[in-house]
Amino acid sequence: MYRMDSETINTSVNGEMDYSDLREKLLQNKDKPAIINVTIGTTFKGAIDDVDVILETLKDCGYSQDRFYIHCDAALCGLMTPFINNMISFKKPIGSVTISGHKFLGCPMPCGVQITRKSYINNLSTNVEYIASVDATISGSRNGLTPIFLWYSLSAKGQIGLQKDVKRCLDNAKYLKDHLQKEGISVMLNELSNIVVLERPRDHEFVRRWQLSCVKDMAHVIVMPGITREMLDNFISELVQQRKQWYQDGKTEAPCVGEDIGAQNCACTYHKIENISS
Ligand SMILES: Cc1ncc(COP(=O)(O)O)c(C=O)c1O
Repeated sequence: MYRMDSETINTSVNGEMDYSDLREKLLQNKDKPAIINVTIGTTFKGAIDDVDVILETLKDCGYSQDRFYIHCDAALCGLMTPFINNMISFKKPIGSVTISGHKFLGCPMPCGVQITRKSYINNLSTNVEYIASVDATISGSRNGLTPIFLWYSLSAKGQIGLQKDVKRCLDNAKYLKDHLQKEGISVMLNELSNIVVLERPRDHEFVRRWQLSCVKDMAHVIVMPGITREMLDNFISELVQQRKQWYQDGKTEAPCVGEDIGAQNCACTYHKIENISS
């Protein structure tokens, strides 16, 4: 939209930004200011980029605060991380944070919030005379109902309710990961994440029935507040049963996902032996 040059930064195997690649790309483009999109919970693996390491890298590469802008895309995790640590804070030189209302909060229609500094809002906003209000959106149109859903959801849960949801989701994600691992299934769970990445189930019908989102040989389960232990137990036992059928002849094997989720998390025949011996 802005016709600006952009650089894609590599990621590590867990989905987090590769900070050495960031450094390299910053140094290659030293003559230009940088706008950095920091992801607080990547879509598929739930990886959280480390804002502090990114700030440190910018400083090391000679970027003063007036030559960078950091946006934190915290679509899913923005409502979780504040209960875990102080990673996102306007005490740090970040420019904006966005969260989606239809993800962790469960609003029934797409909506979101962008929090930014007043100076930017004042710069961008125009006073729209006929609506007697200021507007900073690109299109100029906004849904007036969604803020009410957001407000309702936040007030109904309250801080304590949200905090409990976060804890339950993280505990349940760990429960799912541990149980899948115990069953010899390839699985990865990033720290402070509610997204469990596992080997892609072989049967398309199983994937469809559980509405699993898949990429390459991976699938993921996002452990949201509405997910109960009972649902997880049903999922685990059905997957374990089905796997026995898929792989019973010994000729077909579960996919190797070492490259995508790390060798230590892969339970394919090759990595299983390697992990045991190491
Ligand atoms: C990291 C990340 N950013 C942005 C989005 C899109 O957010 P929205 O649905 O609010 O446009 C998603 C959705 O999955 C996401 O995972």
